Amino acid sequence: DQITMLFAALLSLTLWFKVSFIFVRQDPSDIIIKASSSIQIFCSHDKTDFYLMLWYQQTPGHTDMKLIGYLHYSATTMEQKYKDDFKISGDLSGSTAKNGSLMIKKAEQNSSAVYFCAASKAQ
Ligand SMILES: *[C@@H]1O[C@H](CO)[C@@H](O)[C@H](O)[C@H]1NC(C)=O
Ligand SMILES: *[C@@H]1O[C@H](CO)[C@@H](O)[C@H](O)[C@H]1NC(C)=O
Repeated sequence: DQITMLFAALLSLTLWFKVSFIFVRQDPSDIIIKASSSIQIFCSHDKTDFYLMLWYQQTPGHTDMKLIGYLHYSATTMEQKYKDDFKISGDLSGSTAKNGSLMIKKAEQNSSAVYFCAASKAQ
């Protein structure tokens, strides 16, 4: 079985942190992998004072984006449902360009989705 994943940048839209709008780069942007394999995708941007990075999953046939988890400075918070299968890492501390990652530890058929990365200027 092949699992298709698409990665896209997203405008930041968070309610509990100050909202800011920027585009981020994501690498790779489109990938097909085998079931049970793992993959790490990166999201980077040049907004040096953006200390929050969020990851979302949009599954086929759904318009809503589910929050997988987020990175705030170097602390990761995962949503319960995604805790076992995903890992978010990176360090957004310091006034340098940002680079965070989402790892899908073991891709299953239900990993087929569009993944979004968002950045925000969290306080
Ligand atoms: C982000 O970090 C990864 C791993 O350290 C690296 O391979 C990648 O090139 C970095 N991306 C950018 C845009 O710096
Ligand atoms: C995806 O499927 C696997 C089993 O195939 C299951 O363990 C996992 O909880 C599912 N993940 C989600 C987000 O539904």
